[in-house]
Amino acid sequence: MKKDFISILDINEQELEQLLSEAHQLKRQKKAGTTHLLLAGKTLAMIFEKSSTRTHISFEVGMNELGGHALFLNARDMQIRRGEEIRDTARAASRYVSAMMIRAYKHSTIEEYAKYATIPVINGLSDLEHPCQLLADIMTMQEHFGSVEGLNVTWVGDGNNVCNSLILSTVLTGLNVTVSTPKGYEPPEEIVAKARALGGNVTLVREPEIAVKDAEVIVTDTWVSMGDEGEKEERVRIFKDYSVDAPLMKLASPEARVLHCLPAHRGEEITDEVMEGGQSLVWDEAENRLHAQKALLVRLLKNKLPE
Ligand code: CP
Ligand code: NVA
Repeated sequence: MKKDFISILDINEQELEQLLSEAHQLKRQKKAGTTHLLLAGKTLAMIFEKSSTRTHISFEVGMNELGGHALFLNARDMQIRRGEEIRDTARAASRYVSAMMIRAYKHSTIEEYAKYATIPVINGLSDLEHPCQLLADIMTMQEHFGSVEGLNVTWVGDGNNVCNSLILSTVLTGLNVTVSTPKGYEPPEEIVAKARALGGNVTLVREPEIAVKDAEVIVTDTWVSMGDEGEKEERVRIFKDYSVDAPLMKLASPEARVLHCLPAHRGEEITDEVMEGGQSLVWDEAENRLHAQKALLVRLLKNKLPE
């Protein structure tokens, strides 16, 4: 594996398969009450520029369950805020901890940390990607459908960071991804082009009603990502026809399932009825962040998982 996990494409197909197989194994072992203190003595620094519930909890609990420790660092409390450079922070931190997880506004911030850190750096969400979310999402689809190869996944809403990682993941998984966004909110052209150039199957469809027709999985996310709050009113108006609600679900197969990385805004990108309904896998998806990231940490810190 590469030193860092900043993009979903920092791992290859085989590495993804192995990582997720270990994630399923860790999940089974946890349910059976077995623990392996594979990361005893290791510390993960978690630097947050933005809010988090799942990423913070799952990484901290994951390190704890593996016998290690996680250190929560609010970027506002660090010397970074007073102008210390990332390259100096990254090198100093590398002398203390075994890995860093960073949630940043700018993707380039995480890349800068990775450039200077001598330890693995994990992207805990940036404006461009949310690769840890995709590990959990693919794991959840595997649990429900078995193989994900050739599975039809439709994204409805904003062409944002989670959408970008989903698009890029087609290269590793063989998922067929259809993306339905309002005009002007499509995923970046470079992301779509990169996925296609590497053999990914990505289709852009304007109308959500058409996009969900053959969907086996429907994925959505907030219309207003962290950092977009200033555009909230405008976005809520522009995205109003991109809500995953009961009428939209009726256009897909009754066997279709729904994913949402959370936090959800009921009544906007998803309705309460769909969130709480039988087609929703959102709680398994949230849980799988824990197992998938434990597998990631074990892999990045080059440990083998015992049977
Ligand atoms: N899905 C996700 O990353 O959630 P948080 O923002 O709560 O970490
Ligand atoms: N797209 C959302 C994901 C939150 C987990 C955001 O960036 O705010």
